[in-house]
Amino acid sequence: MVKGREETDMLGLNFSSRKDGNCGDFLQFLKQQTKQRFVVKWIHDFAFDGCGPCSYECIQGSCLKKDSFSELMAWMDREEEYFFVMPLYNGNLPSAFYCLLERLSPRLHEEAEERRFWKKTRILLIGNPGHGLECALHTLESLYWNAGQKTDILVFSAMDYGMKATRDRLIEEKEVRTKLIKAAGEAD
Ligand SMILES: Cc1cc2nc3c(=O)[nH]c(=O)nc-3n(C[C@H](O)[C@H](O)[C@H](O)COP(=O)(O)O)c2cc1C
Repeated sequence: MVKGREETDMLGLNFSSRKDGNCGDFLQFLKQQTKQRFVVKWIHDFAFDGCGPCSYECIQGSCLKKDSFSELMAWMDREEEYFFVMPLYNGNLPSAFYCLLERLSPRLHEEAEERRFWKKTRILLIGNPGHGLECALHTLESLYWNAGQKTDILVFSAMDYGMKATRDRLIEEKEVRTKLIKAAGEAD
């Protein structure tokens, strides 16, 4: 929480292709649990691509793309902490996350900004061991390490609860809710 303020403004960003699946459930639950102002957004509400085609104009000043990325940035700049909730798809992190990383690169090129960004980012990852989780975790951990920040990643594996995440609602599992309540508590 920012010193001298009663509230931290938090942004929960859903990286799933579907708005109202497990990632959406997690964010709604976190919003209910936290005492802070918690804004929930779906990454696909913002139409933007990854980088290119270009000649790295962003390095000289500004990106050529005119899309909804600036709208997303306005939200991200406004909020002080982020909860990124993301699923695994086909053994990997969602492409929307990579698009975000690419488009953030001119900002995150600045070491101080990179540190600040990863310090305020908390990741909730839905995925199963043996189905891409290990590799995705390594990728995410590297992002925190490169920024000199300690990792802040919570994993939810449907197979731990005898569930299938494409079919079942993980939020119905008590252990999942307990983990989310703890995460919300740490944010308060
Ligand atoms: C097309 C597709 C591919 C998936 N691939 C993986 C995978 O490789 N590894 C994994 O652990 N889960 C995989 N999943 C499961 C999703 O991570 C899981 O369904 C998650 O709950 C999706 O988020 P949502 O419920 O918010 O939509 C896949 C799901 C879909 C629909």
